[in-house]
Amino acid sequence: MKRQIITTADGSKTIRIEEWNEHYHSVHGAIQEANHVYIKHGLFFYFETIVKNIVKPIPILEIGFGTGLNAFMTFLESQKQSLKINYVGVEAFPLSTNELEPLNYIEELAAERYAETFNDFHKCPWGMPYEISPKFQLTKLKKDFKDIDEQSKFDLIYFDAFGARVQPELWTEAIFHLMYEALKPKGVLVTYSSKGSVRRAMQAVGFNVEKLPGPLGKREMLRARKGA
Ligand SMILES: C[S@@+](CC[C@H](N)C(=O)[O-])C[C@H]1O[C@@H](n2cnc3c(N)ncnc32)[C@H](O)[C@@H]1O
Repeated sequence: MKRQIITTADGSKTIRIEEWNEHYHSVHGAIQEANHVYIKHGLFFYFETIVKNIVKPIPILEIGFGTGLNAFMTFLESQKQSLKINYVGVEAFPLSTNELEPLNYIEELAAERYAETFNDFHKCPWGMPYEISPKFQLTKLKKDFKDIDEQSKFDLIYFDAFGARVQPELWTEAIFHLMYEALKPKGVLVTYSSKGSVRRAMQAVGFNVEKLPGPLGKREMLRARKGA
């Protein structure tokens, strides 16, 4: 499928899939969406509310590594806070160097000192842990979401698949069951979606689900917890 770079409302770029009229991030702002959904309501919520200043590494699973934006912003937080992260990004269709090159996340995040690190996110090998920094380990897994079979391994899941409009098979009870199994007790999953059918599929497999205010341009998002 043809992929094209576009600029979102906050100035950060994303990728559009023409055939589907679908984007890797919100057109209302790729960075603002990542910050709101995954960093604020995912990482900070977990760190400040559930485990309170944990010293062990937090294992995070990302559903849809894509451009690496969520992963890179999580890395930046690990450098600023006293946080250690073991990040696993699953992706079946990695982007090419040509597609990654025009992305402007370094400039937009004022992260010039980590420009080489962002390249490392994409250059590092697939299928094995790679130490991005002493506080951030990255494992990229090239596989289909349906083949995720980890059990009680992750504290946090960033569920960032393309929307149910174009990939309904990824927003089903079957997939959320895999996510539930992959989380440790007290684990948390966050996603930009707020669809009623998604919330019901999560609840059907045992998640406690709450609606939260969405990022700019979107009324709501969902956070699902394993256990109370
Ligand atoms: C919304 S994008 C993820 C954006 C990403 N989180 C980022 O920060 O750039 C969804 C991703 O899921 C990947 N994908 C789609 N179907 C998949 C599948 N069945 N298994 C694994 N990856 C898939 C796509 O290639 C795409 O990179």
